[in-house]
Amino acid sequence: MNRGGWSRRVAGIQPFHVMEVINAVKRLEAEGRHIIRLEVGEPDFPTPPAVLQAAQRSLALDQTRYTAAMGIMELRQAVADWYRRQYAVRIEPERVVITPGTSGAFLLAFGLLLDPGDRVAISDPGYPCYPNMIRLLGGEPVAIPVGPEHQYQLSPELLEPALEQGLKGALITSPSNPTGTLIPDAAMARVITLVEEGGGRIISDEIYHGITYEQPARSALEFSQDVLVINGFSKFFAMTGWRLGWMIVPPAALRHVESLQQNLFISAPTLSQHAALAAFGCEEHLRQQIKEFDRNRLVLVSALRRFGFAIPVMPTGAFYVYADASALLKRTGHPDTRSLCADLLERAGVAVTPGVDFGSYKAHHHLRFSFATTMANVQEGIQRIADFLDRF
Ligand SMILES: Cc1ncc(COP(=O)(O)O)c(C=O)c1O
Repeated sequence: MNRGGWSRRVAGIQPFHVMEVINAVKRLEAEGRHIIRLEVGEPDFPTPPAVLQAAQRSLALDQTRYTAAMGIMELRQAVADWYRRQYAVRIEPERVVITPGTSGAFLLAFGLLLDPGDRVAISDPGYPCYPNMIRLLGGEPVAIPVGPEHQYQLSPELLEPALEQGLKGALITSPSNPTGTLIPDAAMARVITLVEEGGGRIISDEIYHGITYEQPARSALEFSQDVLVINGFSKFFAMTGWRLGWMIVPPAALRHVESLQQNLFISAPTLSQHAALAAFGCEEHLRQQIKEFDRNRLVLVSALRRFGFAIPVMPTGAFYVYADASALLKRTGHPDTRSLCADLLERAGVAVTPGVDFGSYKAHHHLRFSFATTMANVQEGIQRIADFLDRF
């Protein structure tokens, strides 16, 4: 018996390895070193000014009490309007639940879906919180290795064996963290149909929508009305600290989602909800900023390829490059990318994230670079990596 101890569930929750990197960055910065931060997972541009003004107006009105559990109706309506404009999909605003970040939406989604032992397919590599949250709620993550031949995304062929053993759900993330790749339209349509025909449910994490460089990302709602679609204000809207997201749910789930939200969170942050009403008017301003990321992407990918990193699929969304460092590990003599990351930080002053944060499939050979920063930082990072590699 584990008397007085912590739960077995919590013991299974993995910390982010990038925290080791961030702690080392803090130590080096405290020693006066200047570090180029390519490990971060958030846009570096500020909250749009119109959102800040809306927040100030809301504070002046003392809008600081709980809201209705599902969120303020104006914001639910604004989200529904966004789906009409962006994807030509009509949804009733009642189907929108406003959540504390997409992270809150994931807890609701998994709580809605999972009984103990229920299996949910996820891609490996993928966003590390998914398997942790699935486990926390008693489910079983089924990690499916995905490589460049499938754009690092779940595909119908890859899902078949897992489906044969039964799946309660499958998670798709397009664009993906850490690979920045999109799921091709035909694969998305087929994956949704296969999972739904097998009695499972698709959860589509669309948090990087709006941050795409070649073609816009498609919403799972364009293919089915039975999916759970999750998105939020953290990435495209550059509002990470406002902790605001949303989920679109099928009408039959509404009653359950409302009770879950009441019990888990009561409501999403009130100030953030009022502020976010102004976010949808800032699209043009935000799109201009995404163009800066695009320039960073092109410069960073071509430099990394020149250095010997393999990037078999060009990232066309989010702000990440997932690079295979196998050739460079041989050249530098590092046993894995965790050790390469540590050395890059100590000796070159460049922080990046080791692949082990995103799963286990070839993870020790990969690194994730984020280009959500200025061109000057990207260029300085490239120069430092070049100087570092010249020593080997
Ligand atoms: C794929 C993915 N989903 C969800 C999140 C969490 O976002 P939020 O700030 O909305 O909780 C992140 C954050 O990095 C992410 O990369």
